Amino acid sequence: MKHVDIAVIFNCPSKEYVSHGQIYDMEGVIPVCGWVRTSRESKNVAFLEINDGTTLRNLQVIIDKEKFPRPYYEKAMPVGTSVCVYGRLVRSERNGEELHMESLEILGECPQDFPLQKKYHTLEYLRTIPHLRPRTRYFEAVLRVRSTLSYAIHHYFRYEGFTYVHTPIITGSDCEGAGEMFRVTTNAWDAKGETAEEYYRQDFFGTKAGLTVSGQLEGEMAAMGLGRIYTFGPTFRAEHSNTTRHAAEFWQIEPEVCFADLNDIMDIAEDFIKSIIEDVIGNCLDEMEYFESQGAKGLWDRLNSVVHTSFARVSYTDAIDLLKRSGKEFRYPVDWGVDLQTEHERYLTEEVFKKPVFVTDYPMDIKAFYMKQNPDGKTVAATDLLVPGIGEIIGCSEREADYNKLAAAMEKRGMPLEAYREYLDTRRYGSVPHSGFGLGFERMLMYVTGVQNIRDTLLFPRTVGSL
Ligand code: 4AD
Ligand code: MG
Repeated sequence: MKHVDIAVIFNCPSKEYVSHGQIYDMEGVIPVCGWVRTSRESKNVAFLEINDGTTLRNLQVIIDKEKFPRPYYEKAMPVGTSVCVYGRLVRSERNGEELHMESLEILGECPQDFPLQKKYHTLEYLRTIPHLRPRTRYFEAVLRVRSTLSYAIHHYFRYEGFTYVHTPIITGSDCEGAGEMFRVTTNAWDAKGETAEEYYRQDFFGTKAGLTVSGQLEGEMAAMGLGRIYTFGPTFRAEHSNTTRHAAEFWQIEPEVCFADLNDIMDIAEDFIKSIIEDVIGNCLDEMEYFESQGAKGLWDRLNSVVHTSFARVSYTDAIDLLKRSGKEFRYPVDWGVDLQTEHERYLTEEVFKKPVFVTDYPMDIKAFYMKQNPDGKTVAATDLLVPGIGEIIGCSEREADYNKLAAAMEKRGMPLEAYREYLDTRRYGSVPHSGFGLGFERMLMYVTGVQNIRDTLLFPRTVGSL
């Protein structure tokens, strides 16, 4: 359908322009398509505000009631109706460009039971109608920043000479080893097997299979030939954490870099985070302004200052000291050896450092098997990046490159070495020091938009008890 994007009308004011390969005379009659967001009438004119998803701004359509009696435009008045309006652009002081209607085509009527009748709906309510959320300004803004952020991520890595690899979604290996894998099976619910092994042998792959929790292990294998790679794909965790920052299906960005130690990868992570923030705040000005108006006060300034400050770095051991000396009553008590909870993470990044902070060198026992063991015999060369408002957004480590140490760490955890034979081969054949990290894409999106609940960053969020 030939039509002019509303974004083009507001952003490229010139006499002629090209939209969808067609040249339009902006001073003539142009067709504009969209959905009616609001409508109202006065004695002599009717107004439609339409939006086509190309910009957060609505285009005001003016209908001269003398020229067009009510029956002509009546069907366009219900909120949600889709229309194609032919009209002439006229500049008004208040609204910028407005479209004075010359003719109207109703593309799809919208009955009164359309749930988005009001101007404002709570996010809780919108979660009950995810299929209609993209019709709201809020989700239009979230989804556009999501798209820009994805592009910024690819742009960064491409520019830095990383190769994008696609790791499998169905896998047999549990990377994080936390037992949170979803099972993949074609076995009927009543399939019988004498032993677990027999049961899985009858299944599609002839072995136990699940959805990946991380592309890291396969990513490491690719890095062993390509030097620097990254993955960007969906990951799945059957965690029963019903929080505002956990989803069962989320996207992860996982770079893996050879010939790099923990300090090198932290430098890369810091540069990467700053670069993608800069990209988003430079390209999503309208969206940023909108999120500020929706409660994320000072968002743009805050992000802008993150781009220009060095992230803090503190060891886990010192972080535990800071928490103990804080005089705060935490719900989960703190002691050397415990995993940091969100409340601890947020205290460190929001109240102590007041900026993003890398916590380094965690106790070996609370971290994954693949992390490089430090000479102290107690900690590993791992770091989490914590940011204000959220807590952990990145999990990162140097990998244990020594075959014997890695195998010992796996045995200590009761992991079947045979199932990880190919992974272990990377340490047998020309092993190199290497490091990588995983950024939770939705958490990053929360950070740059100020969105408070991960459920509002995904088109169709999957969380425990909710599909
Ligand atoms: O810290 P995690 O578990 O690290 C890994 O998966 C490593 N294999 C990464 C690597 O070194 N290649 O997860 C990485 C990040 C977390 O910091 C968090 O931002 C996000 O993934 N994440 C989640 N995001 C949303 N919902 C969940 N359930 C998440 N679990 C982790
Ligand atoms: Mg983690």
